[in-house]
Amino acid sequence: MASFSWRGVAALLFCSPLASAAFYSIDSNDAIKQSAKTLAYDLMTYYKGNQSGQTPGILPGPPPAGDYYWWEGGALWGTMIDYWHLTGDSTYNDVVSQAMLWQVGPNQDYMPPNVTASLGNDDQGFWGMTAMLAAEENFPDPPKDQPQWLALAQAVFNTQADPQRHDSTCGGGLRWQIPFSNNGYNYKNSIANGCFFNLGARLARYTNNETYAKWAEDTWDWVTSVGFMDAEYNIYDGAHVETNCTDINRAQFSYNNGVYMQGAAYMYNFTNGSEVWKQRLDGMIDGTLRVFFPDNIAFEVACEQHMTCTTDMLSFKGYVARWMATMTQIAPYTADKILPILKTSATAAINQCTGGDNQRTCGFGWASGVFDGSVGAGQTMNVLGAVSSLLIGQSKAPVTNTTGGTSGGNYNAGQGSDSFNNALTPITTGDRAGAGILTFLILASAAGAFGWMSLGP
Ligand SMILES: *[C@@H]1O[C@H](CO)[C@@H](O)[C@H](O)[C@H]1NC(C)=O
Ligand SMILES: *[C@@H]1O[C@H](CO)[C@@H](O)[C@H](O)[C@H]1NC(C)=O
Ligand SMILES: *[C@@H]1O[C@H](CO)[C@@H](O)[C@H](O)[C@H]1NC(C)=O
Ligand SMILES: *[C@@H]1O[C@H](CO)[C@@H](O)[C@H](O)[C@H]1NC(C)=O
Ligand SMILES: *[C@@H]1O[C@H](CO)[C@@H](O)[C@H](O)[C@H]1NC(C)=O
Ligand SMILES: *[C@@H]1O[C@H](CO)[C@@H](O)[C@H](O)[C@H]1NC(C)=O
Ligand SMILES: *[C@@H]1O[C@H](CO)[C@@H](O)[C@H](O)[C@H]1NC(C)=O
Repeated sequence: MASFSWRGVAALLFCSPLASAAFYSIDSNDAIKQSAKTLAYDLMTYYKGNQSGQTPGILPGPPPAGDYYWWEGGALWGTMIDYWHLTGDSTYNDVVSQAMLWQVGPNQDYMPPNVTASLGNDDQGFWGMTAMLAAEENFPDPPKDQPQWLALAQAVFNTQADPQRHDSTCGGGLRWQIPFSNNGYNYKNSIANGCFFNLGARLARYTNNETYAKWAEDTWDWVTSVGFMDAEYNIYDGAHVETNCTDINRAQFSYNNGVYMQGAAYMYNFTNGSEVWKQRLDGMIDGTLRVFFPDNIAFEVACEQHMTCTTDMLSFKGYVARWMATMTQIAPYTADKILPILKTSATAAINQCTGGDNQRTCGFGWASGVFDGSVGAGQTMNVLGAVSSLLIGQSKAPVTNTTGGTSGGNYNAGQGSDSFNNALTPITTGDRAGAGILTFLILASAAGAFGWMSLGP
């Protein structure tokens, strides 16, 4: 996925002067379910993968073939698994299963060859987190001859824990891209490491295995030591290995906060409420509310004001809402503070869904209360995530292997399957410098598009 905005900038803005009445309601649990049902229907109209001649699992793309990168399909299925879990509506379960199983790739670790050219650890991580979610919510297990949810999550984790993916540049951490030859292989970033951290924390809790927790701890320590996360719990995008990760790009994106905050909640739970993780979780919550929830309404601070968000960025709000909701179950002390904010934010989300011929199409900006004309799968997924999450109080907390989880695991899944870079000739210094310069130029022009953002510490 794009860690930063060089993959094109969408800036549509058609403001309607007349705000019509909200189509959706969240006034009761039944109203929430009804609203979520319509939003899920509208969201799934963007998915063509189950039609003949199309590829199961993915949204139309990647650019220029369509708007969406591969990772967003994985994110969509997480939203739809939560939708089923929260509402009980199983209408889409078969479509979701088919999609999740189609994309596992030859080694059953979410690295299908079709997407090699833009395969980042974060992209793979999003599919891995969705497989983890399926295990935690007891989403119907695949047939026995197919890979199982927990094993798929473990496979993603194992490929990412492989020493080959954790070289010594910048003192550790994952790079953004997986193959040497990809643009962005020389960049280490918060989201790639955040997905790995999140998955490690969740596998630790699910399997009660300390090995995963150790990786999660170490990842948190590295991210803070290198300055990607600062003492005020601001999380910055990433930096290049050529500078030993000192040229920190200070753009802040809400999914980084969401993925680390939820992971910290899992570590808090895994450690039976340790002081260390409580302090980190509290810090993450305060930092996230400060930066991304002005007036208690979700706001994508890096790009929303001038509508310079990329397709990727247009989907972050929904993940944050869903991950915060789960946090209130595994760190229940946070519920009193968080649930009212999720409700305020969801109210703003539905109030702007007055677009389209059906007068229920959602835009991107929630704070204004007015439909802004920016429509797509991400924008719809955001509102569905915000609305369905309001049912969290009535739904079962994520299970573990000892509290009802049925998914089959395999500690060795994915091990040794990452033959990617072994098979390629090592990149020469000249090639690498070239790639580095290209990335720098792209970054510089992206920074131009973002105007006010500073590059470097
Ligand atoms: C594809 O999935 C949708 C639900 O999103 C369903 O309505 C439709 O019938 C499915 N199409 C095929 C060809 O299976
Ligand atoms: C890879 O691409 C081909 C050609 O578009 C398609 O038929 C196939 O289903 C794709 N595989 C996956 C795992 O997406
Ligand atoms: C590179 O960065 C790491 C992590 O911040 C640090 O431990 C290491 O000393 C740095 N190396 C050099 C040569 O500056
Ligand atoms: C948490 O408590 C459970 C049950 O008392 C125990 O089995 C487990 O080892 C504890 N975990 C940690 C990390 O202390
Ligand atoms: C851990 O999560 C469970 C829900 O699965 C919850 O009941 C428990 O209170 C949590 N532990 C702590 C220390 O908050
Ligand atoms: C989960 O628990 C079952 C039964 O105790 C055990 O057979 C299985 O190996 C466990 N799975 C994992 C991944 O630990
Ligand atoms: C814990 O997980 C690690 C890493 O996958 C595995 O090697 C180890 O065997 C597991 N430990 C137990 C006690 O199952």
